[in-house]
Order: sequence, then structure tokens, then C-alpha cells
Amino acid sequence: TRTPVNVTVTGAAGQIGYALLFRIASGQLLGKDVPVKLRLLEIPQAVKAAEGTAMELIDSAFPNLVAVDIFDNPADGFAGANVALLVGARPRTAGMERGDLLSANGGIFGPQGKAINDGAADDIRVLVVGNPANTNALIAASAAPDVPAERFTAMTRLDHNRALGQLSLKTGTPVSEITKVTIWGNHSATQYPDIFHAEIAGKNAAEVINDEAWLANDFIPTVAKRGAAIIEARGASSAASAASAAIDHVHSWVNGTPEGDWVSAAIPSDGSYGVPEGIISSFPVTSKDGKWEIVQGLEINDFSRTRIDASVAELIEERDAVKALGLI
Ligand code: NAI
Repeated sequence: TRTPVNVTVTGAAGQIGYALLFRIASGQLLGKDVPVKLRLLEIPQAVKAAEGTAMELIDSAFPNLVAVDIFDNPADGFAGANVALLVGARPRTAGMERGDLLSANGGIFGPQGKAINDGAADDIRVLVVGNPANTNALIAASAAPDVPAERFTAMTRLDHNRALGQLSLKTGTPVSEITKVTIWGNHSATQYPDIFHAEIAGKNAAEVINDEAWLANDFIPTVAKRGAAIIEARGASSAASAASAAIDHVHSWVNGTPEGDWVSAAIPSDGSYGVPEGIISSFPVTSKDGKWEIVQGLEINDFSRTRIDASVAELIEERDAVKALGLI
């Protein structure tokens, strides 16, 4: 029998948590045969709601769910964690300045990074979902000097999946035949979904679509502003698709990406494509043996360069702001 994997989920009582936990417990995160111990981390006021979710997890009788434990402090929540999904964050409320938002999140992701540093397993892998995800990941990583920086990542897989969905709708091609889409930069409205290297049924996507106006005025804003469109339509933010993307991110990281394709993830830059080293930015990535690698050698045209640079500039600003606040 295999040793169970400890998976810590923060914000477990929230919307994404409710969609995410059942998929982890059913084996979709790591594999059907991998036993999982879930560690739910919440703030004290939300522990009771997390207990309700834990009751439902038990009632689902997932064969490989070994334990569900609930914690209200990071030190206990991350003890022994192999995988950590940092979903809980401080949302921006009306009238909140960016500095206040970053400070409030620094107060969450700094202590969580420290707890990961002090108590997580040696193979800890962290995915930050809570916004501003890239910068929250940077804050957590900088509070965890003993953990390799590459273990701290932020989620742009939802944006990646949204781009696949739009290309599928536009061309009537199933998602399974669309490859090599890339999200560059920040998980924000400045992100750049790039189809110049993508393939649709084996043909270059930009050539198949052959409509730069659609790309600039339709595709890119639709993908980048999809979150707002869902709030507008549903009266609540995207939760099931966000949970699905978190599952995809960790599954790709741990189990690898298929030959001849790549995915998008925000990982610490090594300087590739002119993105300053250390910035947690979205790249085209493959995964092998549990390690992300940035896809190298892609030609970046002017259309792409302007947009990548704009999103990276926003990440640099966010980094400088959290530095000025003493959060990194
Ligand atoms: P939600 O408000 O339903 O749930 C958040 C939960 O986090 C709450 O239960 C809250 O008690 C908990 N929480 C807050 N501070 C915490 C802390 N210090 N420790 C542990 N738990 C804490 O929000 P929802 O819809 O589940 O979204 C969560 C986050 O994910 C938001 O920041 C949202 O912006 C972000 N998001 C990111 C996406 C991405 O693509 N990267 C996509 C969609 C959402």
C-alpha cells in the first residue's frame, strides 16, 4: 500500500474549496490509486462551515480518502503537507486601495509561507489560487527561504483552459485537438493569451483563424475578462472552473505533460523571454519528473511582445509595491 499524500487546502469552506475538495478526494488530483489525507485550513470563523464540508466528504465514501482534518492555524495546517493549494485570500472590496489589498494578503501569504517553510514535507509543491495570485505566491516564496523557489507557483491554468474553450467554439474543433496555447504574464486583465504557436488539428492556429481583428478585439478580451463576465451572469464568481483548473495544474505538475503539447503556469522566471528573474509569471511550460520547464526558443512577434511586456510590467510594479511594503 502506498503512503498517503497530504494535501492542504486553504479557504476550504469557500466556493472554490467546495468544488475542489471532492475532486481531490475522488482521485482526480494525483491519480485514482493514490491515497490522500486532506488538511483543510480555514480562519476560525469558517471552521464550522469546513466541518460541514468534511461531513460530506466522509459521506461520499471515496475509496482513497484516508482522512479529513480541519485546522485554524497555518502551522498545523501545513505540517507534513506534500501539496498545498492556497485558495483563501483577502478579496478587494469597494474603495480598497491596491496597497491595502497587498498588505492584507501579505498578512495571509507571509505567515503561510513561513509555516510551509517550517513544517511542510521536503517535496512540498504549492499552487496559489487566491488573488492577486502571482504576487501572493511571491510573498509566500520569500517567506520560505528553505524551500526551493520553483515549488511556489500561481494559477493561470484557468485562463489557459478559457483560451482552449474559445478556440474550440470559434473553430468547431474539440479541445482535445487544440495544443500549445500559451498564457503569458499576470493572472489579471493584462494577461496575454497567445495563439501564434498553438495548433488546431495539427495546423497553426493563427493561420487557421487568420483574423487579427478577432484576436485583438474578441479573443484576448474575452479570455482576459471572462471572470467578470461569469460574475455578471451567475451572480457569483467562477468556482467550478477554477477548481477544475487547479486540479489540472497539480495533475500536470506531478504526472507530467503529454509529448508534443504544453500548458500554462505562473512559475518563477529564470530570465527567459525577457521576464526578469524571480518574477512569478505565466509561461508555456512542460512538466517532467515533477519539475516545470519553460518551453524555450519560441519566436515572439511584435504583436505578442507588446502584450507580454505590458503584463510583465504590471508584475514588476506589484513586486516593487510589496517590496516597498516590506512584504518580501
Ligand atoms: P470565497 O470567498 O468563497 O472563499 C474564500 C475562503 O477563504 C473563505 O472561506 C475564507 O474564510 C477563507 N480564508 C480567508 N482567509 C484565509 C486564511 N488566512 N486562511 C485560510 N482560509 C482563509 O472565495 P472563492 O470563490 O473560493 O475564491 C477564492 C480565491 O480564488 C479568491 O481570491 C479569488 O479571487 C481567487 N480566484 C483565482 C482564480 C485564478 O484563476 N487564479 C480564479 C477564480 C478565483
